[in-house]
Amino acid sequence: MIDLERSPHHRPASGPASAQAGHSSRRLGHALVVAWLAAVLGGCDQPAAGAAASGPENYELCAQCHGADGRGNRGANAPSIAGLPPWYVSAQLQKYRAGHRGTHPDDVGGLQMRPIARALATEADVEAIAQHVSKLPAGPLPVTLSGADPARGESLYPTCLACHGAGAEGNEALKAPPLRGQADWYLATQLIHFRRGLRGTHAEDVSGAMMRPMAAALPDDQATRDLAVFLASRP
Ligand code: HEC
Ligand code: HEC
Repeated sequence: MIDLERSPHHRPASGPASAQAGHSSRRLGHALVVAWLAAVLGGCDQPAAGAAASGPENYELCAQCHGADGRGNRGANAPSIAGLPPWYVSAQLQKYRAGHRGTHPDDVGGLQMRPIARALATEADVEAIAQHVSKLPAGPLPVTLSGADPARGESLYPTCLACHGAGAEGNEALKAPPLRGQADWYLATQLIHFRRGLRGTHAEDVSGAMMRPMAAALPDDQATRDLAVFLASRP
């Protein structure tokens, strides 16, 4: 992942602290992945019959990074997933599973999420967890990025609304997710990832290929932060 706080366009003041946070969150992520893979492999001894776990059961794993309420945890690079529509959650889980997302060596967050998605045993597990996540209540999140201008974000948003909707509520027919109520640091990171080609470049990632040129056409990196702060605070 691109470290937003250490981008060349940003003040160096928070550099060492955020570098430390990055290291400890990577350690946390690795520890959780190892723990989960051990649990999954241990579970292989059990009979296969009825092995498909329910959404709520599998959610205990997700909660370790995304939080019990699904509203995300920046320290673990984990976005809010609460209330995301089931079609988007299952599509993204399938992308991580297939390697269409989360394989670029600089995509720290994607590399953390991918083994978790792959550890879901069956397609039925993917659908069940997507249904469960979609029912967790979403809502506006606090602004965490400094030095962003939400008014400029709002002025840039008209180029996005054809796909993401006037209220940033998303559009299933266009496979465009809701953006309102998503964490600002995550939205800005993903826009940078699309701009740099860490996401949306795999040949079979059709919906990612729709989004990539939109991020690339933003006037500057600062626009990713301005848009992110505008979107995160929308109800
Ligand atoms: C080890 C920590 C960790 C665990 C456990 C985890 N996630 Fe994630 N998840 C992440 C990170 C980090 C990201 C951001 C990935 C990226 O930047 O591409 C993410 C991203 C996602 C996304 C993409 C969201 C979007 O807006 O595109 C979905 C969906 C998701 N996770 C669902 C789940 C589900 C469901 C579970 C439980 C089965 C789960 N995650 C468990 C760390 C985790
Ligand atoms: C042509 C339609 C289209 C337009 C216009 C568009 N997007 Fe997207 N956007 C998408 C699609 C489709 C996806 C899902 C990509 C995927 O499946 O990985 C997406 C994904 C995203 C994501 C990732 C969200 C997440 O949860 O991971 C962000 C952030 C985003 N768009 C922001 C924007 C912004 C800001 C604009 C305007 C500058 C914009 N988009 C314009 C289609 C579009």
